[in-house]
Amino acid sequence: MTNNRLVALAASVAAAAFLACPAAVQAGGQFNAALIASNCAVCHGPGGNSAGFTPSLDKLTKEEIADNLRKFRSGEKPSTIMRRFAKGFSDAQVDAIAAQLGK
Ligand code: HEC
Repeated sequence: MTNNRLVALAASVAAAAFLACPAAVQAGGQFNAALIASNCAVCHGPGGNSAGFTPSLDKLTKEEIADNLRKFRSGEKPSTIMRRFAKGFSDAQVDAIAAQLGK
């Protein structure tokens, strides 16, 4: 592969990555906490009531959810997957998501 083709490939990969940014976060430049929070149900169950191995969120207060997300983000609370999600959110976004889901 020539250098030019490599550059073109790198550019198209970068463009694809940019276009793949979650619409929920990018739409209108606004962070849509309700839309983000609705994705949590995929693993944590509808209304945070999990039928599987994933912990239920429906008994947690918004303070507990925010606290858990901050601890996942810092690594203070061990996790398989949540650290990856939590690292994507600012403190204000953590609070906005927790307000959607917590009691
Ligand atoms: C891909 C599945 C998945 C998704 C999506 C997901 N979680 Fe989790 N969540 C987990 C798993 C698994 C754990 C257990 C900790 C770990 O291993 O990461 C967990 C743990 C938690 C806990 C700690 C609960 C407790 O009692 O210890 C909170 C709070 C939480 N998630 C919030 C969220 C929020 C808010 C979202 C949406 C932004 C979300 N999760 C999306 C899988 C998921």
